[in-house]
This record gives sequence, structure tokens and C-alpha cells, in this order.
Amino acid sequence: MTNAPTSRTAEAARQVEYERWLAGVSPASFGFRWFMGPGQWFANTPLMRLKTNLKLDESTRMLDLGCGRGTVMRMLDDQIRSDTPPVGLDFSREALRLARGDESNPARHAGLVQGSAAALPFRDGAFNLVLCGHLVKHLDDVDLLGLLLEIRRVLEPGGLALMWEFGPTGNPRLDAWNARVLSTGVRHPRLRSTDTLKRFARDAGFPFVRDANLRPFLLPPIPRASILFGLPPEGFHGPD
Ligand SMILES: C[S@@+](CC[C@H](N)C(=O)[O-])C[C@H]1O[C@@H](n2cnc3c(N)ncnc32)[C@H](O)[C@@H]1O
Repeated sequence: MTNAPTSRTAEAARQVEYERWLAGVSPASFGFRWFMGPGQWFANTPLMRLKTNLKLDESTRMLDLGCGRGTVMRMLDDQIRSDTPPVGLDFSREALRLARGDESNPARHAGLVQGSAAALPFRDGAFNLVLCGHLVKHLDDVDLLGLLLEIRRVLEPGGLALMWEFGPTGNPRLDAWNARVLSTGVRHPRLRSTDTLKRFARDAGFPFVRDANLRPFLLPPIPRASILFGLPPEGFHGPD
């Protein structure tokens, strides 16, 4: 899939907004940095149980797309101690700088890669677990499909991916308010439901797509949409 020039321009603008927001000195910037660091326990509460829920073991090869400060992948890596350290990708240099500063174990470096979710700089089938949290609200429909195709490419057969994002409430006034709150640092978020994300994942060719049912997220009090999706193991043939 080729990215239209408008998408690339929009992504470059979002990247600038993220750099500014993450490095800012306003209370909102402090709050955002806190949410991406120590506040992850509130912002990503259900992810703390992921090792148990997905029966993850040391064979896990994890990629975290839009990893921010890398808090989720480090927390999971501490639990799993997989043979291969996790890899986090983010387009923000400031986010990756914060992620490097947060590393507390000198013997265990996560891979931190600066890059775009639209064109992942990884070989086909390089990972068996891909996480993508709170990123896709920034993508239009074309880019969301492009991202899902890239996830399909870098997942090995039998691999799983988990995507979660702020979702709609069903109440247009409340949704407009939530979109305003989410626009504090980076503009024009898109709130998609779990069913919409499921449809996109199927369109990208994933045969296994489920509601991930992640909850509760404690803060901010905005519903999340979440999907678990993946590829069948090699040689697997479903029922005819
Ligand atoms: C709201 S933060 C989420 C951080 C973390 N994944 C979480 O769930 O809390 C979104 C992150 O995605 C990154 N991001 C947004 N759009 C991106 C893109 N197109 N390519 C790579 N990174 C992107 C931002 O720089 C930011 O660090």
C-alpha cells in the first residue's frame, strides 16, 4: 500500500505536535508525561494482566507500536523475561529519549526504534506479539488499514496482536467533549468502536479477530475499544 501525500503530511504534522507536547512545560505536558510513565497503571490497567490472559512465555517476541515511554512493554518484559528483548517503535524522538531515561536495568535493553507505524522497518514475520495502544485515533481510515497490513506482514504465523484505543460512548455530546479532551496536545482524534476496529482487521486479512474486552481502564474516564487478532499457525486449515 502506498501512502497518499496527504497522509504523510498529516503524519508529519502530528509528529511535530507530539514532540512539542512531550517536551512542553505546561501542566498538560506534565500530565501527559506522567500518564505515559508512572500513570500507566491507571491509563493501561488491564494490560498488567496480559501475561496471564494470553499465557505469554519466554518465546514471546514483542513489538510495541507507538510505545511512548515504553512503560507497557517494559512492565510486560519484566513479567515474561522472554529470550528476545522487546522492541518499541515510535515516531517521536522525545518519547524515545524519555523511554531510554526510564530504563532501569542496564543488562536488559529494549530495542527503541524511531519510525512510522505506516512503514515498519522490520522483516516479515519478525514478531509473535504486536501491541498497539492509544495510537490509531490519529489515523484516517486509509492509514489504519495500512497499519493493519503492516502488522500482518511483521507477525509470524500463529502470532497475535492487540490494539486498544479510546472509543465512542454512543452519546454524541459526550463524544464531542471526549474528543476535545483528547485534542489537548494532538488534534483531530477519531473515536472508533470495537466493531469498527474488528471490521478493519478483517479487511486487512486477519482470519482471527475478537473483541479483546479489555477493562477497566481507570483514567481518563473515556471508554476503550479493543481487539485481539492474529494469524493461524503454519499448516493450520480451518473447517471447510
Ligand atoms: C498516546 S501515546 C500512547 C503510548 C502508549 N502506547 C500507551 O498506550 O499509553 C501515542 C504514541 O504513539 C506515537 N505515534 C502516534 N502516531 C504514530 C505514528 N504514525 N507512527 C509512530 N508512532 C506514532 C506518539 O509519538 C506517542 O508516543
